[in-house]
Amino acid sequence: MYKTLHTDLTDAIFTITINRPDKLNAINTQVMDELSEAVTEIYTNKEISSAIITGAGAKAFVAGADISEFQGLTKEEGQALSAKGHDIFMRIASSPKPIAAAVNGFALGGGCELAMACHFRLCTTNARFGQPEVNLGLIPGYGGTQRLTELIGRGRAIEIMLSGRMVDATEAHTMGLVNYIVVESNELLSKTRELLSIINEKAPLAVARIIECVNIAAGDGTTVGNGRTDGWEADPFGGEAGADDNSGGNGFLREQQAFGECFGTEDMKEGAAAFLEKRKPKFKGL
Ligand code: COA
Repeated sequence: MYKTLHTDLTDAIFTITINRPDKLNAINTQVMDELSEAVTEIYTNKEISSAIITGAGAKAFVAGADISEFQGLTKEEGQALSAKGHDIFMRIASSPKPIAAAVNGFALGGGCELAMACHFRLCTTNARFGQPEVNLGLIPGYGGTQRLTELIGRGRAIEIMLSGRMVDATEAHTMGLVNYIVVESNELLSKTRELLSIINEKAPLAVARIIECVNIAAGDGTTVGNGRTDGWEADPFGGEAGADDNSGGNGFLREQQAFGECFGTEDMKEGAAAFLEKRKPKFKGL
């Protein structure tokens, strides 16, 4: 049972709501630990096909790491905190099941980093993104310097991180930081679910391999299969995703292998047969 998260599993979509609205859902140690557990649930629960991360209340997605826990940290403790955040956010980015961020307000510091670790982002019109750590004499510590640069380009990322300024929903959309702005804020979750429902009908092993190959292009995340060293199940669907990965991190080579691996799946045979028989495919994740 989580204390700082609310979770819901409906129609194979697992929604994780960070639930500290009085502190604008700031990520303290307990939130981080519970988020880690919830991410493990995404990997291991076969009833889950995809996930949403959002924040409680109308004001914030996540307003950052909990600044009240920063006071008195040593250099070593600061580095360990960053390493812990990196590990959890990397597991989000590496998840073979899609994880969407539904950004319902402030996504600052660790909140912006959490949204960026997700595979794509939808937001409300009141969303505000930023990496204001510089205002605290800090730098982004949960992957922000890397993921913001990868998503919006070096010049824009440096300016935003150096100024600590906030980016509104329209600018975030123009920059490619968010995929969609949902004008009616009460429709944010339903729109996010709609998008994930479309993906949930696709072949899970193909979905996992697309995420894996794109992550190599982005320099983000480990591979689903052999690249993992942390004991995660190689393929949550019981297949052999990534089993033949000896690409050495070369995305083009990995794409060739993964493309080939798809031909060994039942779902690929079903997809091609369904197309030729002019019917909807029924994918099983095999
Ligand atoms: N860590 C800890 N507490 C936080 C927090 C954070 N990152 N962000 C907000 N809070 C807390 C506030 O301290 C306040 O708590 P209180 O009511 O007990 O005093 C509560 O959340 C509400 O925030 P408040 O600042 O009063 O709301 P606001 O509407 O005036 O301002 C923000 C909203 C987001 C602009 C402002 O809260 C802010 O700048 N937060 C920090 C953002 C940040 O620097 N993040 C990166 C951290 S590394």
